[in-house]
Amino acid sequence: MKKILWTDDMSIGVELVDEQHKLLIQHLNDLTNAIESHHSVNQIVKTLDFLIEYTNYHFSAEEKHMSETNYPGLEHQKLKHDEFKTTLNDLVDYFTEDGATHQLADSIDTLLINWLVKHICVVDLEFGTFLKDKGIEIAEE
Ligand SMILES: [Fe+2]
Repeated sequence: MKKILWTDDMSIGVELVDEQHKLLIQHLNDLTNAIESHHSVNQIVKTLDFLIEYTNYHFSAEEKHMSETNYPGLEHQKLKHDEFKTTLNDLVDYFTEDGATHQLADSIDTLLINWLVKHICVVDLEFGTFLKDKGIEIAEE
């Protein structure tokens, strides 16, 4: 399965958000590791739960900053975030019904990893550029 490595070109220029993205990627890699190591269903569900919990936390934090800075792309971001959350919840259903099948592994590779990398490098970067243009600094969660 694919692994994501956070690299400098994934930076959106906001340290706080970059740090959260690193952790999000780590949670996603934990999930793929758990599946690849054939951990028990319980253990895999646990890593999936951590990923979901952290995703919700991160998206809420981002949306809060976007709202506070009157970011015009907020609604679009919310739609994208909801799409990802739905995908994650669907995966929980597939997984609890069928276990760690190849299809599940493929879905994680294509849906989650591609989505996240694109989201960080394109959609979140636009927010970083917006903040930079406006000279706004985000220092706190
Ligand atoms: Fe993000």
